[in-house]
Amino acid sequence: MTAGIIERYAASLPVTAATPRVTLGEGSTPLVRSSRIGPSIGLHQLYFKYEGLNPSGSFKDRGMALATAKAVEAGATTLLCASTGNTSASASAYAARCGLRAVVVVPAGGVAAGKLAQALAHGATVLIVRGSFDAALKLVRQLADQPGVALVNSVNPFRIEGQKTAAFEIVEQLRPVPAQLFIPVGNGGNITAYWRGFCELARSQSRSRPQMHGAQAEGAAPLVRGKPVARPRTIASAIRIGNPASWAGAIAARDESGGSIEAVSDAEIMAAHRRLAREEGLLVEPASAAGVALLLRRAQAGYVRSDEPIVCVLTGHGLKDPQALTRGLRLPRPVEPTLKALRGVIG
Ligand code: F0G
Repeated sequence: MTAGIIERYAASLPVTAATPRVTLGEGSTPLVRSSRIGPSIGLHQLYFKYEGLNPSGSFKDRGMALATAKAVEAGATTLLCASTGNTSASASAYAARCGLRAVVVVPAGGVAAGKLAQALAHGATVLIVRGSFDAALKLVRQLADQPGVALVNSVNPFRIEGQKTAAFEIVEQLRPVPAQLFIPVGNGGNITAYWRGFCELARSQSRSRPQMHGAQAEGAAPLVRGKPVARPRTIASAIRIGNPASWAGAIAARDESGGSIEAVSDAEIMAAHRRLAREEGLLVEPASAAGVALLLRRAQAGYVRSDEPIVCVLTGHGLKDPQALTRGLRLPRPVEPTLKALRGVIG
């Protein structure tokens, strides 16, 4: 059995012998070398960290394993979160595993079908509010002082601690530290976590640190604009966020690494999404393609050297958002079960 992130990285995490080793087998996700996108733009060391292969289908499981373990250790009975979908799916799964209640608050019309189905299937109490993710987060922060309740959004420091383990894995898998890392940014927690992980390795093992490049969606790019966005809009519902909780952490990752946070359009996101599916065999949800969209743009502008190792983080699995996958596609019409009919279609 592959150990989970608490077991594997206990020495680098805020755990003691008394902390339960809560796990669903999260982490240990593949670092897949690009077979076609990279070479097509002259990049021969392009890699994808495929976080969609975590147990609930997104990177959230790393942070949720630790946040849940610390909640159990503290005697909590309920996990509470606001979410654009993946945090709620992850919290619901880990709560189910530990016999806790999950209460998840999500924006009406703002969550992909697969994610909502996950929360419901795991038995969570799902509250759909008529408002944005930002409104939902504000509400849960106010609810979190109830006894027995653990808030498991990335404002919970254990979420960030758990998620930094992805940076450790990338360095173990790649050996050199990547020169540049591309990552989608919504609430800002994950870029903060990766940067922390790389900084810890730099201190403990005298390693270099990558330039961090965060991608926001054009209609939901508060960090690029320098001010909150009242009505964030993008097809990438996971990162439809107007006022990120980890604002300062994301900006620090950008500035301390000499990187960037840029906006990519929905068209660029969907083009990258399509290329990942059709040229790499990697199915991701739209938000996860934002980092790749940013890489493609920066590579075209000459900001990426062909010989340097580059990693794009693919944050969530494609099956979470079937609607996004089938947009613009038509289901083929059934044909007669004859060779002739099949040959007619195959051409
Ligand atoms: N990619 C995916 C698939 C996500 O679900 C999220 C965030 C991000 C990227 C951005 O990460 O917020 O740490 O900057 N999803 C959260 C949620 C907000 O509720 O599931 P971030």
